[in-house]
Amino acid sequence: MNKITVKASQSYDVLIGSGLLSRAEEYIVPVLKSSRAVIVSDDNVFPLYGETLKDRLTGAGFTVNEFVFPHGEQSKSHEVLLNLYGFLAANNITRSDAIIALGGGVTGDLAGFAAATYLRGIRYVQVPTSLLAQIDSSVGGKTAVDIPAGKNLVGAFKQPRLVLADIDTLNTLPDAFFSDGMGEAVKYGMIRSKELFDMIAAGNIREHLEEMIVKCVDIKRDVVENDEFDKGLRMTLNFGHTLGHAIEKTQNFCGLSHGNAVAVGMYLITTAAEKNGLINGNISGELKDCLEVNGLPYSVDIPPEKLFRNSVNDKKRFSDDINIIICKTIGNADIVKMPINDFGKLVKTLER
Ligand SMILES: NC(=O)c1ccc[n+]([C@@H]2O[C@H](COP(=O)([O-])OP(=O)(O)OC[C@H]3O[C@@H](n4cnc5c(N)ncnc54)[C@H](O)[C@@H]3O)[C@@H](O)[C@H]2O)c1
Repeated sequence: MNKITVKASQSYDVLIGSGLLSRAEEYIVPVLKSSRAVIVSDDNVFPLYGETLKDRLTGAGFTVNEFVFPHGEQSKSHEVLLNLYGFLAANNITRSDAIIALGGGVTGDLAGFAAATYLRGIRYVQVPTSLLAQIDSSVGGKTAVDIPAGKNLVGAFKQPRLVLADIDTLNTLPDAFFSDGMGEAVKYGMIRSKELFDMIAAGNIREHLEEMIVKCVDIKRDVVENDEFDKGLRMTLNFGHTLGHAIEKTQNFCGLSHGNAVAVGMYLITTAAEKNGLINGNISGELKDCLEVNGLPYSVDIPPEKLFRNSVNDKKRFSDDINIIICKTIGNADIVKMPINDFGKLVKTLER
């Protein structure tokens, strides 16, 4: 088992390894205040792992209730959130009690936001079961729900008390969601670690999964410790996301999945930066090979002009400038602030 300690406004351990769920009480009980908890999970994940977690905690003297909601992004909504608040109240959950988020990023974000806001904040533990949640969303304390105007527009920073990432749970994760997580893993390599990038680019990543997850979490830890509230460095985690979001939006969120759209977004922004002399060398070539080896896409049939238009009302834009993340070498990311018009010109060079 690997342990990474995140030193944020609330410090906590991220435990990564095999067989952790079947000893969950050993890790969870010490970080909670009372012996009462609500497991929040979706209807795919709870049937797979919910009873094990519940049994371990009840065996340790806990009273445990479960709130299970329909899987999918559409559940990261105020409707489901209100039902969850109602469930917590009906079960007399007090400020001493806790929420345990068991599932992917949707579960973590929803349960985390409930934990941040119910009774002005109660403890919560993340038990991430998707690759994306294990390497990204469960660490760092960003919680949110979606509203009709956009994804993650209502949220809070709320660090968990513990992250328990049992890599065995990834055995049941459908390939499409595994691939989604890999898009984000490539991103970590691009922005912070040539060593991680090379490991992913070599292929057969399932043979080095634990090592890859540990490296990704360690990068996220470092970024969060240096910029918990997303004022600077944390923006580098958005590499590939501006054009990635534009792809998702252009396809009405029914086309490429998020991680796949980020993969294309990383390749497109790197190619555009090379074409405009912002990068020397053939970074895009190495990135393309890495994406291909891992079954990730690097192109999409959308005119660059349309991508540009759909990227400029991204919430990461401030005033008339836009912050773009560019990797001039593999393992190093720069935040480049440029006027929106210049960004438009940059993206449109992808036409040629
Ligand atoms: N808070 C953050 O910092 C942060 C960062 C990145 C992404 N996110 C959010 O994360 C969400 C996406 O996360 P996700 O891809 O994990 O989505 P998800 O939670 O919907 O999980 C993906 C699918 O896999 C299923 N699943 C999860 N674990 C499984 C397992 N072990 N076995 C079988 N099925 C399993 C789920 O039921 C779901 O159908 C988005 O809402 C995104 O906004 C948050």
